[in-house]
Amino acid sequence: MGLEGKQVLKAAITAVGGYTPDTILSNQTLEKMVDTSDEWIQSRTGIKERRILSDDDKPTSYLAIKAAQDLIAKKKLDPTTIDLVLVATVTPDLHVAATAAYVASSIGATQAFAYDLNAACSGFLYGMSTAAAYICSGRYKKVLLIGADKMSSIVDYTDRTTCIIFGDGGGAVLFEPSPNEYGWEDEYFRSDGTDRMSLRIKAGGSLFPTSQKTLDEGWHNIHQDGRTVFKYAVSEMSHVAEQIMLRNNLNEQTLDYLVPHQANKRIVDATAQRLNLKEEKVLMNIAYYGNTTAATLPLLLNDYETQLKQGDKLVFTAFGGGFTWGAAHLTWAY
Ligand code: UT7
Repeated sequence: MGLEGKQVLKAAITAVGGYTPDTILSNQTLEKMVDTSDEWIQSRTGIKERRILSDDDKPTSYLAIKAAQDLIAKKKLDPTTIDLVLVATVTPDLHVAATAAYVASSIGATQAFAYDLNAACSGFLYGMSTAAAYICSGRYKKVLLIGADKMSSIVDYTDRTTCIIFGDGGGAVLFEPSPNEYGWEDEYFRSDGTDRMSLRIKAGGSLFPTSQKTLDEGWHNIHQDGRTVFKYAVSEMSHVAEQIMLRNNLNEQTLDYLVPHQANKRIVDATAQRLNLKEEKVLMNIAYYGNTTAATLPLLLNDYETQLKQGDKLVFTAFGGGFTWGAAHLTWAY
């Protein structure tokens, strides 16, 4: 049986929220911790400072709950009406027990079910597709999608190649059936696992379970082969973003904003250049937060919310560990 006669729902983002911790880790402070310089960090990454959740007893769920509560307050949303809570993260509070379930209980989403998604820096982008698909199917009416990471819990602050990049933060969006013709339009997602060792935490999973050796070797921190990731990210992010623009008849004039994962300003600049986009069409906040992994995209939406107008054409793009990457087109609904 076909879909004739059936109304296909469109999924829209109808609210956003965000949270970053108060503690600032500046380049100047990092200069005192590792052999680096403010000049090197700014010119190679575009980062000036990042936010750190410095309290040891506060995990990723703290960031996620704060972001969700910000959204709930702004939207005046009754949390008992939320059907599903999704948390995209690479730093769950615990293994096995979904962080999303704890977040849902903590924000009063008592009628919701909840689970985590992990696709590294592409987790929030893929999560938007999942949330949109649930709404389009008509199965659920309110899906709260959160991207949150306490990257400081997995960073080795003696490793200058990673500690300068990452920061902590959380962002949230609400997906609902679109109140107008705007919302989720198209997506083009890819993955390639052959290079997975280029960006990963080696131990603590089933391949290298925690042991004295894994602890002694320092295999529990995030590690990346920066150059490999950089090259791959530049070529693939610009490729998928270009494809999604072509498929949706978008060009440098008709696109309103590129919403790119904030991994490195040079990666974003190269993508924007390939798409021929002027600087004012590219949303950026990496200078103040660094790379917050699953939180970069919703934090951009939160920071630029007042600038976005109904009908604005956005293209999201991300690249992350796995490797996972993709681009998506969404029209802003409010
Ligand atoms: O979110 C998705 C995942 N992550 C990414 O997308 C990150 C992708 N990679 C990058 O952003 C960049 O590769 C980095 C920022 C990590 C590194 O920048 P780079 O321009 O690719 O530097 P490099 O790795 O090619 O290193 C150049 C030099 C090296 O020294 P030698 O071998 O030329 O003497 C490094 O040892 O810079 C050195 N270096 C540093 N110097 C000062 C590496 N890190 C630092 C540092 N401060 N923090």
